[in-house]
Amino acid sequence: MVSNVISNSQFVRNAWYVAAWSKEVGRSLLPRTILNENVVLFRKQDGTPVAMTDRCPHKLAPLSMGELVGDLVQCGYHGMQYDDTGRCVRIPGQPPIPPGARVQSFPLAEKYNAVWIWMGEAALADPARIIDIPYYGEPGWALVDGQYLAFETNYLNLTDNLVDPAHTSYVHKRTIGNAGGEDVPVKVEQSEGRVLAYRWVKDAEPVPIMKKYGGFTGNVDRWQYYHLHLPSNSYVDFGAVATGGDNSEASKQNGFRSFTYNLLTPETAGRTHYFWLHLRNYALDVPEVDADIERLYRLTFEEDRDILAAIQKQQDKTGVREYVKLSIDNAPSRVRTLIQRMLDAEQKQVAAE
Ligand code: FES
Ligand SMILES: [Fe+2]
Repeated sequence: MVSNVISNSQFVRNAWYVAAWSKEVGRSLLPRTILNENVVLFRKQDGTPVAMTDRCPHKLAPLSMGELVGDLVQCGYHGMQYDDTGRCVRIPGQPPIPPGARVQSFPLAEKYNAVWIWMGEAALADPARIIDIPYYGEPGWALVDGQYLAFETNYLNLTDNLVDPAHTSYVHKRTIGNAGGEDVPVKVEQSEGRVLAYRWVKDAEPVPIMKKYGGFTGNVDRWQYYHLHLPSNSYVDFGAVATGGDNSEASKQNGFRSFTYNLLTPETAGRTHYFWLHLRNYALDVPEVDADIERLYRLTFEEDRDILAAIQKQQDKTGVREYVKLSIDNAPSRVRTLIQRMLDAEQKQVAAE
């Protein structure tokens, strides 16, 4: 049996994670726990975002309890000031600055209305490695973004969930699932840094959201493609065409289609930041539909949130990390194995340094 034991305290560091939506980061000090580290975020006067360890090296006061003085962070305890690189530039009443008086700063990139953070080796922080989001901001696609939920579960329970189309028939029967998909097998593909789990449910009743907005009068062929970019960015390509047509990419583009991006950032061993955005090719320029999509998907993700928090509690209570394996676990197992490989590679690298 392949072991899926991963210590809850291990996170892949050489990866871009969403630290915050752009709208959250401004001219005040925003504390946020990311990969179990306390980080403080803010913008300089020219708008550039900055992230650094939220801990003054003097007495460990959180810097987020201090204030911004121009582009400097001033500790709220004794007034030491740090620049955007984390270097201390002023100690009140003491001209010499000891060499240890600095905090770590982290590379950031701003894309898709989000501030992305890199907490691994800074030399590897290439913004080209941020997940690509096709159709973002393009005509023909409506966008609902800037969405957030806090999940009380380890991120690996979420990556399991996000390559698992089979749960939708049960967890999401009010929103994006129905019984029509129950017995349809899930196929899995794997390529460099990615896992895909997918299925087509043919000649089936449209699910609630498709009934509402798809304008379908009869049965549909619907698809769910669950893509995972390792370690923890997911997108779900979800849609339907009327049964009887072809199922080509062109006909999918003309059908009812959406892409949901779930951008996970581990917070601690038992909590995960869940940033999400949604692109759709139907009901464009109808603000009521934006509000309804936000509500429906929030409801959908709250359904996941509740079951995954309950699972985390069971894991904490029992310590069990080995489970009865089903064929639907193929993709989640591959994801865990590949993440373990990334963790092993990073640890080897650290050991070699
Ligand atoms: S704890 Fe920050 S200056 Fe003393
Ligand atoms: Fe779900």
